[in-house]
Amino acid sequence: MVDTKDLIKASLDAGRDLLRSPAASDLAKAKAKSSPTPVLVPIRSLGPGHRDRINRHLLALDEHDRYLRFGYLANDEQITRYTDGLNFERDDIFGVYNRKLELIAMAHLAFSSSAECKSCAEFGVSVLKQARGRGYGSRLFDRAVMHARNEGVELMFIHALSENTAMLKIAHNAGATVERDGSESEAHLRLPPATLDSRMSEIVETQFAEMDYKLKSQAKQFWDFLAGLQATRRGEREAHDKSAP
Ligand SMILES: CC(C)(COP(=O)(O)OP(=O)(O)OC[C@H]1O[C@@H](n2cnc3c(N)ncnc32)[C@H](O)[C@@H]1OP(=O)(O)O)[C@@H](O)C(=O)NCCC(=O)NCCS
Repeated sequence: MVDTKDLIKASLDAGRDLLRSPAASDLAKAKAKSSPTPVLVPIRSLGPGHRDRINRHLLALDEHDRYLRFGYLANDEQITRYTDGLNFERDDIFGVYNRKLELIAMAHLAFSSSAECKSCAEFGVSVLKQARGRGYGSRLFDRAVMHARNEGVELMFIHALSENTAMLKIAHNAGATVERDGSESEAHLRLPPATLDSRMSEIVETQFAEMDYKLKSQAKQFWDFLAGLQATRRGEREAHDKSAP
């Protein structure tokens, strides 16, 4: 559950980072590698307007990651077909954006349409290599669990290859039962019913993620504008130097 003080701290931390220039931010990023995961990760619910960025995120996965994510070595065409086929009405897609508005992590919560398992959902996730080990995978899982609970889901499934230690750890840490069957594993997590707390937490987290995205968009526009100005000035200076006798 989210505490108000955690939310305020997370907002302040996010705001502070956005005011750094991109170069200073790279330095800060190197420093942050050794620091703990932020208390609250802004996780946004993605709609059809994000399809291109979702596709770009998935295409950036290397062969091994594609194999782990889809259970087979998906080529670019298969990934694009998967992205084109995403059903935003039925399912929920969550994402984490960096300050350059690149989708660095995303999760797909697919709701079952089968008559035998009406209150079931399946979870799939991917985090770009450079953003791993910071807790994004776990946070996306928590976010999906909270949303699934609030939507009345009772059982959440995760299919993973048995070699996928990180994914199985996320499931195990959340209390899921993991069954190994050779190279494949299946985990299932029984979800408690929604409560006022779980509903309020989701509202707060959604608002926080929207605010974070708006701030990032404005900061990006600002830094792009500054970069444009600097490029123009540099061009003018070079033209002046060339024309000088
Ligand atoms: C699986 C994946 C999403 C994990 O993302 P992540 O953001 O690095 O995960 P987290 O930082 O939240 O770490 C989750 C847990 O796994 C552990 N972990 C992370 N990477 C690990 C690794 N390479 N080996 C062993 N454990 C690892 C972490 O220590 C953490 O456990 P802890 O909380 O007990 O310390 C990411 O590795 C990925 O995108 N893999 C490719 C796609 C994939 O496998 N998807 C899952 C199948 S649907």
